[in-house]
Amino acid sequence: MNQHVLAERPVVVAHRGASVEAPENTLAAFRRALELGAPAMELDVHRTADGELVVIHDATVDRTTNGTGAVAEVTLEALRRLDAGAWKGDAFEGERIPTLAEVCRLARGRAALVVEIKAAGIADQVVSTLEAEGVLDESFIISFSQETARRVKEIRPGATVGLLSGKAEDLPQVAELGLDAFCPHYAAATEEMARELHAANRLLSVWTVNDEDGMRRMAALGSDLITSDNPALALEVLPRG
Ligand code: G3P
Ligand code: CA
Repeated sequence: MNQHVLAERPVVVAHRGASVEAPENTLAAFRRALELGAPAMELDVHRTADGELVVIHDATVDRTTNGTGAVAEVTLEALRRLDAGAWKGDAFEGERIPTLAEVCRLARGRAALVVEIKAAGIADQVVSTLEAEGVLDESFIISFSQETARRVKEIRPGATVGLLSGKAEDLPQVAELGLDAFCPHYAAATEEMARELHAANRLLSVWTVNDEDGMRRMAALGSDLITSDNPALALEVLPRG
C-alpha cells in the first residue's frame, strides 16, 4: 500500500464495498464505494473448482446468492449464472459474483484494495493477479491465516501484509512473521497497541466499525485504517489529515 494512500489517516475502508447500501462484494457495492470517494475498499477472495479467483465472503454461495454449494466445488461459469444481488433488494437483481481481476480493473487508479485471502493455498495466485492487474503496490493484503500472511511476505517482501485476528493476544505474531500491520476486531484495539505498532513502524487497521462513537474512538486511539460497512458515515464523521 503506497504511502500516498496513507497520507490522510485514518484511511476509510469500504468493507466488502459500500455493503450497507449494496450487496456485499459485488461490483455494485464497489462502484458505490468509489462514488462516495472511499480511498480504499475491502474484499474477500476464494477460488473456484476450475482455479479462478472470485470475490465472495463465505466459502459457500448460500447466503449471498440464489444458489447453494461450496465455491471451491463450482466452476466460474456456474458461479456466474447465480444472482448475487437480489437478496439485497430488487434494484440489485442480476449482480454477479465478480472475479478478483474485475474488481482490480474497477479500482485501479481510483481506490486502494484491502484484499482478504480467505481460502488456503491461494496466496501465490492472488499476488500474481494483483501484480498482473497493476494494483499490487496499491493493495493491502490481509488474512486470518498466519501461514497465508507469511507466504505473501515471503514471495513479495515489498507488499503490505497484515494479520487479522479477533484477539489482542495475537499482536506479537505480527513481528514474528515480519508483517506490516495488525488488524484486530475494533473491540480489541487499544491505545497501547497503536503505540507499540507505530513504534515499530507498523500499522493498526480495525474492523468493522459501523457506529459514529466507535469510529471516533478508533480514530482517537490512532488506528491507521478504519473498515466500515458504511463508508458514507465514516467519511462524514472521521477527521482526516
Ligand atoms: O476487514 C477484515 C474483516 O473483513 C474480517 O472479517 O468476516 O468480515 O471477513 P470478515
Ligand atoms: Ca473480509
